[in-house]
Amino acid sequence: MPAPRRTLFVTTALPYANGPFHIGHIMEYIQADIWVRFQRMQGHEVHFVCADDAHGAPIMLKAEAEGVTPRELVARVAATRPKHLDGFHIGFDHWHSTDSPENVELSRDVYRRLRARGLVYGKPVEQFYDPVKAMFLPDRYIKGTCPNCGAKDQYGDACENCSSTYQPTDLIDPYSTLTGARPELRTSEHLFFRLSAPEVVAFLRRWTAEPSPGRALQPEVLNKVREWLGGDEVASKLTDWDISRDAPYFGIPIPDAPGKYFYVWLDAPIGYLASLKAHLAARRTDFAAFLQDPHVEQYHFIGKDIIYHHLLFWPAMLKFAGAPYKTPDNVFVHGFITFLNEKMSKSRGTGISPDVYLDLGMNPEWLRYYLAAKLNDRVEDLDFNPDDFVARVNSDLVGKYVNIASRAATFVARHFGGELSTRVPEAGRVADRAGSTSIAWGARDSIAEAYASREFGRAMREIMRIADRINERFDEAKPWELAKDPASRERLHDVCSDAINAFRALTYYLAPVLPATAGKVAKLLGLRLPLRWSDVEQLSDRIQPYEHLMTRIDPKQMDVLIAPPAPAGPATTAAAAAAPAAPDATISIDDFTKVELRIARIVAAEHVEGADKLLKLTLDVGEGRHRTVFAGIKSAYDPATLVGRLTPMVANLAPRKMKFGLSEGMVLAASGDGPGIFLLAPDAGAQPGMRVK
Ligand code: MSP
Ligand code: ZN
Repeated sequence: MPAPRRTLFVTTALPYANGPFHIGHIMEYIQADIWVRFQRMQGHEVHFVCADDAHGAPIMLKAEAEGVTPRELVARVAATRPKHLDGFHIGFDHWHSTDSPENVELSRDVYRRLRARGLVYGKPVEQFYDPVKAMFLPDRYIKGTCPNCGAKDQYGDACENCSSTYQPTDLIDPYSTLTGARPELRTSEHLFFRLSAPEVVAFLRRWTAEPSPGRALQPEVLNKVREWLGGDEVASKLTDWDISRDAPYFGIPIPDAPGKYFYVWLDAPIGYLASLKAHLAARRTDFAAFLQDPHVEQYHFIGKDIIYHHLLFWPAMLKFAGAPYKTPDNVFVHGFITFLNEKMSKSRGTGISPDVYLDLGMNPEWLRYYLAAKLNDRVEDLDFNPDDFVARVNSDLVGKYVNIASRAATFVARHFGGELSTRVPEAGRVADRAGSTSIAWGARDSIAEAYASREFGRAMREIMRIADRINERFDEAKPWELAKDPASRERLHDVCSDAINAFRALTYYLAPVLPATAGKVAKLLGLRLPLRWSDVEQLSDRIQPYEHLMTRIDPKQMDVLIAPPAPAGPATTAAAAAAPAAPDATISIDDFTKVELRIARIVAAEHVEGADKLLKLTLDVGEGRHRTVFAGIKSAYDPATLVGRLTPMVANLAPRKMKFGLSEGMVLAASGDGPGIFLLAPDAGAQPGMRVK
């Protein structure tokens, strides 16, 4: 019996519009996209939307630094979105912006309703103010000396050296990172949302225990919110939420509060609804009626760093704004993607770049499959390991799944003109044993269950186990021998037809992950489109001439994906970097600012066994951790003389896996036609981490 048709409203977190997608965004979208495609295959109606998160101080300041308006910056970034979304087969129904008329209207509406319920109040707040820039400083733009250990250049909330936490006002000798000026304390009126009101806390305790009938938060998420919410006997730790910012700010002006704007985190989640509203308008569907339909379910996919905003602020805002707003049916939280177990940083350019991946012409379905194979319903980090990536894709997708079709199709084409056997009485049964097709069909419900609960890894393992069994049976039947014996013709036909129909079922199972390949197979086997889970148990009666479905990963592509074009070492660097451009080509300032040069302190320098040109440098770039860089300067320097020196480095060079380890950047040195390599050095006063521009 088919399940009743559901209507799902699904979102992913709105990316900040200050730069192109990084691999973390792509991972989140792929996770959600797989789930959405699966739900559609079940016959459910899905509205899958996202938008740029356009507002906030960082975007305003970045635009200013680049000499453009925030809107110009946001538009420039928005123009980069389709390449990545299309490139990775991410099928949002609509992409919007929080800087849109819909969002202004909805944010003000929500705000007015909360205010009418007495949940908004004003209160003076004392904050650091940059007198040169004439603006209040968000904490991330304030640094100073740690009040606990005396370490210099620490952020306003915590010390990277001794890990103590404090307020920005506790810093010794605070300075604005924007102007270097000493910030002054000034007072201004801010608006607050009463997150600590008893009715709000009571609602959140109920909602987090059961966000919608029969549904539960992930256990890790529930534990986390319980730390904040308390419970029976345990007081809540929630404090009221500051929802306003003073001009200058890039955001939505607050009605009746001149010079004040909504804090970006107020209007950002409302952007989900703004995007939905624009999407529905294009389909002539009424937004309020849609949300109030009791059959509509609302789901948000987010990363673990924004649990607080989505599990507390967001449902509370929606609940107390009242109808037509509805609270989420669930929020699905994922961990972070790491690269060789290290945090990826877009600012440092470590990890893999979705842009480079696509530019290399790498198959997006390789990445989709790899991520699917590693994803589950937990809040666990997921590591991208290049060797593992190549091994899994080549062995599972090409070696197991595609292999079934390519081998069986050859026999069917050569001996039976593409016709598949229809003799098989019970689908796919060959001889006296269950056929491969019925084995594949038998997994239909458990694979569906795994997808529905976001246990994609389990689904992929089950699919590949079946692929293994199909290949084994095919080998056991020895079709190449059957083909030599005219008396075995029928048997050959049955064996190959069974394998192809089993492959057909696996194609349905993999379709949420491999939509393009599934499309090719649909043509090959005459599958009805769109693919529906309910069509799994059907047989094809012919196969079109076989064309390659998927190639193996080329190791040469991998070398470029995980390595920058320039190796870590000055001698080889210049040549490699100059190669793509004509020697006298000019670059724009934008090109130059892509290169993140920073001052590094050489903490340690040592010889590398087996390397005749390289020294291994350990660098402090003011990040609270050390980096390793292999530099081709061995001929010119005794390592001992380097320790303690400052030198500029390229901090956002993609890390390169070398024979001796991972190199995470490049130091700069001068060299000419004659002998000698000369490391650069900044003037006195420069500090590790300072940007060179
Ligand atoms: N703009 C806010 C979200 C507003 S939602 C109303 C934001 N933007 S973000 O660009 O920083 O992050 C967008 C999403 O990407 C978040 O869900 C975040 O958790 C996710 N990721 C950021 N880095 C990530 C990884 N390294 N790995 C996986 N997801 C990561 O937060
Ligand atoms: Zn400290």
